[in-house]
Amino acid sequence: MIDRIIEGDCIELIKKIPSKSIDLVITSPPYYKQRDWMGIGNEETPEAYLEKILGVFHECVRVTKDTGSIIFNLGDKYHEGSLLLIPYRFAIEALRREKVKLINTITWVKTNPTPRQFKRRLVQSTEPFFHFVKSDNYKFNLHSFMSGEEARTERKRRMKNIGQRYFKLIEEAPLSEYEKEMAREELKKVIEEVKEGKIKEFRMKIRGIHAPAFGGQEGGRKIQMEKQGFTIIRIHGNSMKRDVIECAVETLKGCPHPAVFPEFIVRELIKLTTDEGDIVLDPFMGSGTVAVAAKKLKRRFIGFEINPEYCKYAEERLKSVENASQKALFECS
Ligand SMILES: C[S@@+](CC[C@H](N)C(=O)[O-])C[C@H]1O[C@@H](n2cnc3c(N)ncnc32)[C@H](O)[C@@H]1O
Repeated sequence: MIDRIIEGDCIELIKKIPSKSIDLVITSPPYYKQRDWMGIGNEETPEAYLEKILGVFHECVRVTKDTGSIIFNLGDKYHEGSLLLIPYRFAIEALRREKVKLINTITWVKTNPTPRQFKRRLVQSTEPFFHFVKSDNYKFNLHSFMSGEEARTERKRRMKNIGQRYFKLIEEAPLSEYEKEMAREELKKVIEEVKEGKIKEFRMKIRGIHAPAFGGQEGGRKIQMEKQGFTIIRIHGNSMKRDVIECAVETLKGCPHPAVFPEFIVRELIKLTTDEGDIVLDPFMGSGTVAVAAKKLKRRFIGFEINPEYCKYAEERLKSVENASQKALFECS
């Protein structure tokens, strides 16, 4: 089964996996009545749907090692204008039924939700990832979470507009041309420091725009403002590792699957909870995102998917990742 995507019903297939053999289960089951899925998702009532998801969850808990993690991502559903709170009903029932702890609810903030404004409600643009563990001895590689090149690029992208308002304020300030030039140069430098993660954030105070600072350490800043026209306050400290991931909804060219996991989120969570060589299971593999992420991070994987079309696409997607890595190896040797 290892390193394969197997076509079939996960409710049956997962029974073939030995107990306590998986390091991480990370999955996104079909959401309730969101699409005409094969398999789970079209049950008459939320209760019937949740029973099925909880049945799969029970098996996921069984196959997970005591040091492992189980991460479930679920979406909600409106019924007659009200949210059904499906994800939270699942999480509450999962905690009640199984011997697990819920250590985090990681919120995915979608930076590009479907642009459709409702007149009487706000656009839903978040989804929870529930992180369950079986013991206090779970693997947790905090240092590798959101710290790679990709996370830095994502951070830089989000920080594209950081500090830009100060450029406008410098222009409007009653400073000499020389002072304005100095202020712009220092501002560019400090913006780079934030983007590189060297400092957490900063504030700029400009003479004639901001109130002068008073007393103590602030006294030095007051003198700086008077003499050079501005002062910059650097705020140090490591960025906290928070339970929020900002990331765009992904669409893959030629992909027949309508609801693909963002690979970035899956990769960050695999790095957080497993080591190289560990086994990752996705019982609802869809387009193969978990397999692709696991492969790229040198983890092994098992995937189940009931829809033959998605299965075929996932296998092709995986092959192209394997080919790309072989090509890179060949070019390096
Ligand atoms: C929300 S999608 C998962 C998407 C996936 N995370 C990705 O990145 O493409 C849920 C998937 O579960 C599959 N599915 C539904 N019932 C299933 C079952 N009983 N066994 C296996 N797969 C099932 C659906 O066909 C669908 O592809």
